[in-house]
This record gives sequence, C-alpha cells and structure tokens, in this order.
Amino acid sequence: MSVDSVFRTRSLGVASVGLPDQYADGKAAKVWQLYIGDTRSRTEEYKSWVVSLLKQHGVQRILDVACGTGVDSIMLVEEGFKMTSVDASDKMLKYALKERWERRKEHAFDQWVIEEANWLTLTEDVQKPGNGFDAVICLGNSFAHLPDFKGDQSDQKLALQNIASMVRPGGILIIDHRNYDYILETGRAPQGKNIYYKSDLTQDITTSVLWVDNKPHMITLDYTVQVPEGPQSSPELSKFRLSYYPHRIDNFKEILTGAFHGKCEHSVYGDFKTYTPGQSQAPCYFIHVVKKTA
Ligand SMILES: C[S@@+](CC[C@H](N)C(=O)[O-])C[C@H]1O[C@@H](n2cnc3c(N)ncnc32)[C@H](O)[C@@H]1O
Repeated sequence: MSVDSVFRTRSLGVASVGLPDQYADGKAAKVWQLYIGDTRSRTEEYKSWVVSLLKQHGVQRILDVACGTGVDSIMLVEEGFKMTSVDASDKMLKYALKERWERRKEHAFDQWVIEEANWLTLTEDVQKPGNGFDAVICLGNSFAHLPDFKGDQSDQKLALQNIASMVRPGGILIIDHRNYDYILETGRAPQGKNIYYKSDLTQDITTSVLWVDNKPHMITLDYTVQVPEGPQSSPELSKFRLSYYPHRIDNFKEILTGAFHGKCEHSVYGDFKTYTPGQSQAPCYFIHVVKKTA
C-alpha cells in the first residue's frame, strides 16, 4: 500500500509521482536556507566533531548524498576536502549551485562536483572514483525522508546498500536520524537547540504520528516559520509539511550494518558524544559512524 493512499505526506501542490520530492514546491527549500541559519556560522561543536573524525580517518574525498542547499558540503569544501555533493531535489540543489557559481574563482569551489541523484538509483547516478569515496555523509535527518513504500523496509535497505557501496574499504559512512525512540515514547522531540543549525527564526513545529498495522509508520512535522521580509514589508508566516520515517535506533543499526554485509565496525553518538543506552539526557540526534572493513 502506498503511503500517499493513507495520508498526505507533503505540502499541497507537491507532486507525488515516483519518489516524492517533499521540497518540490520550492517553499521548504526557500525557508530551509533561513531555518538552518548562516552557513558560515554552523555550531562549532558540529564542525569540530565532524572535521576531526574525517581527519582521524585520513579522509580526502567525500560524497555528500543529501547535500540539500549545500550547507554541510560548503563547510567541508572550505575545510579543504574534495566534495561530490548530490541530492534528489533540484529545488534544494539550486542553492548549492548558486553558491558554487558565486565562489567559482576560489579553486576549491571550482572543483566542487554537484549532481542530481537518488539513493534508490545511486549506483547509476554517481560515478564512483576507483573503489569508492573515503567518506560518505548523509546528515541533517535526511535518510528519514525516505518512506517505507512497501511496508517491509526494502526501499530503505536498497538505499542503504547503494550508499554503503560508495564507501571504499577502510572508509567511513556518517549517517544520522532524530531520536525517534524518544518522540514515539513521549509524543514530542527532546528539548534542546538543533545541534546542526543556528537560526533565530521564530518557529512552531507540530508533531503527528501515523500508525499503520499497529506500527509507527510516519511522523509528520508541520512547520510554521516566521520569515523576515525586507525593511518595507511585514514578516510573513511560511507553513510547510515534511514527513519522516521514524527509525528506531536498534532497527536502524541492524539494517545499516546489513547494508555492509556485516563487514564493518559500527559506533553511535548522541549529539556528537559517545552514546550509552539508558543515559539520563536523551539526545536529539543519533549519528551512526560505520567503517567498512573489507
Ligand atoms: C533535511 S534536508 C537536509 C539537507 C542538508 N544535509 C542539511 O542538513 O541541510 C534532506 C535532503 O534529503 C534529500 N533527499 C530525500 N530523499 C532523497 C533521496 N531518495 N535521494 C536523494 N536525496 C534525497 C532531500 O531532497 C533534501 O534535500
């Protein structure tokens, strides 16, 4: 059964043919740039955590499989990594392409590769260098955008296998999701500032959980964000809806390591700190780091 036959997963006006691009009306893409705040002032904790992890693993060449407007990729291009950045949404990529164009005189930006690609067809969409990238990243709660179309997680397993196949032996995958275990237990997200983005926008987020066959099938967030306008006009309220698959940490670990056929070392962080199950402070995000061992 298709998810859309149960519940409308996107803002009105966003087409549903093929893989739903939840950003296709351009509304969320526009607000996203404001929502994530200034790309140059990422939270320092995030930047230093990810850059030192990449350096520890001797990473040079990175594939960002959910680059969106380019926020993570821009930071990593600036840090001297060789980036290939892909995303399924041309409305999101538009912002990344604009930044590359504006900074094309900087050699690192001139070398930045940006392409449209879908995780379900990644092996056809992306040219793999030799036996793979040193690191693949999928951050900002992106993977949870992929619904469970068939009810058996087969699309998510295929997408993870395709993503894993892009990592060279000895390389790493960094992939995250929100703490859906907490959201499902309490009906709300853990308190705390977003660990990735800095934004001063006033926002209200309503959370709804859709259950199908007694299983949590989808979490829908309705965002109402106050967007500042120019000096003449008044602020405008922007509303958009995004839906996510609520990955539980244990199940996600299982399908993730399965995508590497078990030939990997897996570790998990809660908001960039080593995670211990049952710890008193519930993290907002879980970040999985998988090293391909063969
Ligand atoms: C929440 S945005 C995050 C983007 C960026 N990493 C950030 O932190 O701002 C999620 C991105 O995942 C992309 N995405 C969702 N499903 C995808 C798929 N099947 N293949 C490729 N990209 C996909 C969306 O188009 C969107 O740009």
